[in-house]
Amino acid sequence: MTSRVAIIGAGPCGLSQLHAFEQARLKGADIPNLVCFEKQDNWGGLWNYTWRTGLDEYGEPVHGSMYRYLWSNGPKECLEFADYPFDEHFQKPIPSFPPREVLYDYITGRAKKSKLERYIQFSTVVKQVEYSDASQTFTVRVKDLAADQERSEEFDAVIVCTGHFSVPNVPKFAGIEQFPGRVLHSHDFREAREFAGKDLLVVGSSYSAEDIALQSYKYGARSVTISHRTRPMGFKWPEGIEEVPLLLRLEGKTAYFKDGSSRKVDAIVLCAGYQHSFPFLPDSLRLKTKNRLYPGSLYKGIFWQDNPKLMYLGMQDQFYTFSMFDVQAWYARDVVLGRIALPDAVAIARDIAQWQAREEALGGPDDQIDFQKDYVLDLVQQVDYAPCDWEMTADMFKAWEHDKEHSILGYRDKSFTSPCTGSQAPVHHTPWIEAMDDSMATFLATQPE
Ligand SMILES: Cc1cc2nc3c(=O)[nH]c(=O)nc-3n(C[C@H](O)[C@H](O)[C@H](O)COP(=O)(O)OP(=O)(O)OC[C@H]3O[C@@H](n4cnc5c(N)ncnc54)[C@H](O)[C@@H]3O)c2cc1C
Ligand SMILES: NC(=O)c1ccc[n+]([C@@H]2O[C@H](COP(=O)([O-])OP(=O)(O)OC[C@H]3O[C@@H](n4cnc5c(N)ncnc54)[C@H](OP(=O)(O)O)[C@@H]3O)[C@@H](O)[C@H]2O)c1
Repeated sequence: MTSRVAIIGAGPCGLSQLHAFEQARLKGADIPNLVCFEKQDNWGGLWNYTWRTGLDEYGEPVHGSMYRYLWSNGPKECLEFADYPFDEHFQKPIPSFPPREVLYDYITGRAKKSKLERYIQFSTVVKQVEYSDASQTFTVRVKDLAADQERSEEFDAVIVCTGHFSVPNVPKFAGIEQFPGRVLHSHDFREAREFAGKDLLVVGSSYSAEDIALQSYKYGARSVTISHRTRPMGFKWPEGIEEVPLLLRLEGKTAYFKDGSSRKVDAIVLCAGYQHSFPFLPDSLRLKTKNRLYPGSLYKGIFWQDNPKLMYLGMQDQFYTFSMFDVQAWYARDVVLGRIALPDAVAIARDIAQWQAREEALGGPDDQIDFQKDYVLDLVQQVDYAPCDWEMTADMFKAWEHDKEHSILGYRDKSFTSPCTGSQAPVHHTPWIEAMDDSMATFLATQPE
C-alpha cells in the first residue's frame, strides 16, 4: 500500500487529484497520506491571477501567464466537471464563454466543497525530488517561502501537477536588442490597454497570439500585425489586424518580414509558446517534450515509463482541460490505490508507441479533437468518474472550431449545451467584443449595467 503521496501544485490538476482521492475516501477507501505543495499563497494555478511578472516577492519565478480581460477560449461545457456541473455551482445556467474570474470561482468552488485546503501547504515550493532505488522512496526537498526554511520529506509516490504554460519560449530576432519600444513574452502580458493607440507586432500563430491580438484590438490598439513561422491562422480578421510571414529582423522601429514586406511597430509581444520545465527533477525523472497531444515516456499520458510511481497530470497540449485532468486524476488515484494494475514494461512501451504513431498521422483540428477524446475515453472506461457525454464534447469542440472560422469576433457569443446535465446555456447579455468589463458580477448579471 502506498502510504504517502506528494502532489506538486494546487492548480486545476493538483485540485483534481486531491478531489479524486477525497471522493474515494468519502466512499470508504483507505487513502494514503496526501501532501500537496503549492508555491503560491493561493490555489487555482494559472487561474489565480497575479499582477506580478518576473520574480515574486520571494524571488521565485512568477507562475502566472494569465492577463486581465481573459475569457475562456473554449465553451465551458467542454471542460465541465461531471460531478460538479456549472448549474450547481452558480445555481442557474450561465453563458458558455466566461471570463477568468468566473472559471476561477468554479474551480475553487468544488475544492472548497471538498474541503481540500487541509491537504495543501501554500507558499511552499518544491526545490528537488530524488528517488532512491534502495528505499524505493522519493525524497522531496521543499522551501517554506514565508518562513525562509527548507526541509525534506519522504514519499512513496509523487504526482507532478505544475502545468506547462509558465516558462516562456523566447526566440531572438536580429536587431531586437536595439528596438526602441516594449518587447515582452505573452507570459508577462497583463493589460491590453497598454497598447491603445499603438501599432503592435505579435509573433506566433496559436492561441496566445490569437487572443492577445484580439484583446489589444478590442482595447484600442491602432493596428495589430501577427507574424507566423509555419502558417497563418487564417481567420477573417477585422480591419486593423493582419497576418504576415515570419519576422526576420528589426531596424529601429521597422520590422522586416520573410515576404519582403516591412512596417513600423511600437511594441512586440512574443507569443512563441512555453517550455515543459521541471527544475526540481533530475534528468532520470524529467519529462522532456514539446507541446503535443501525446508526450513520450508517459504511459497513459500519466505514468513515468521508467518509474511509474512518478506521475504527471496535464502535460498534453489541451483541447480538453478540467474534465480531462479529472479523468487522469481518477486513473492515477486508482493505480495508487491498487485498483488498476499497470502492465509490464514491454506492454507499456507498446502502448505509448501506438498512441504516438496515431498522433503523428493526425490531420487537422477535427482529427486532433477526436484523438484527445479517445484518449479520455480510454482512461474513463476504467474508473468511476461521473457520467459525461464525451462524444458530445468532441462535437461541440468541432462546432467551436467552425464558429471561429466563421467569426473570430463572434464565436464567444455562441451558446452550448452541458454534456453532463443537458442544460442549455443562455446567450450572454453583451456581445464579447463590446463587453469591456470582465468582472464576475457583470458577467452573471442578467442585464448589462
Ligand atoms: C494564457 C492562458 C490562458 C488559458 N486559457 C484557458 C482557457 O480559456 N480554458 C482552458 O480550459 N484552459 C486554458 N488554459 C490552459 C491551462 O493550462 C489550464 O486551464 C490549467 O490551468 C492547467 O492546470 P495545471 O494544474 O496543469 O497547471 P497550472 O494552472 O499551471 O497550475 C500549476 C500549479 O503548480 C504550482 N507550481 C509550479 N511549480 C511548483 C513547484 N516547484 N512547487 C510547488 N508548486 C508549484 C503553480 O504555482 C500552480 O499553482 C490557458 C493557459 C494559458 C497560459
Ligand atoms: N483563454 C484564452 O483566450 C487563451 C489565451 C491565450 C492562451 N491560451 C491557452 O494557452 C496555451 C498556450 O498557448 P500558446 O499560444 O501560448 O502556445 P502554443 O499553442 O504552444 O503555440 C506556440 C506558438 O509559438 C510559435 N513559435 C514557437 N517558436 C517560434 C519562433 N521561434 N518563431 C515564431 N513563432 C514561434 C508556434 O509556431 P509554429 O506553429 O511555427 O510552431 C506557435 O504558433 C493553450 O492551451 C491555449 O489554449 C488561452
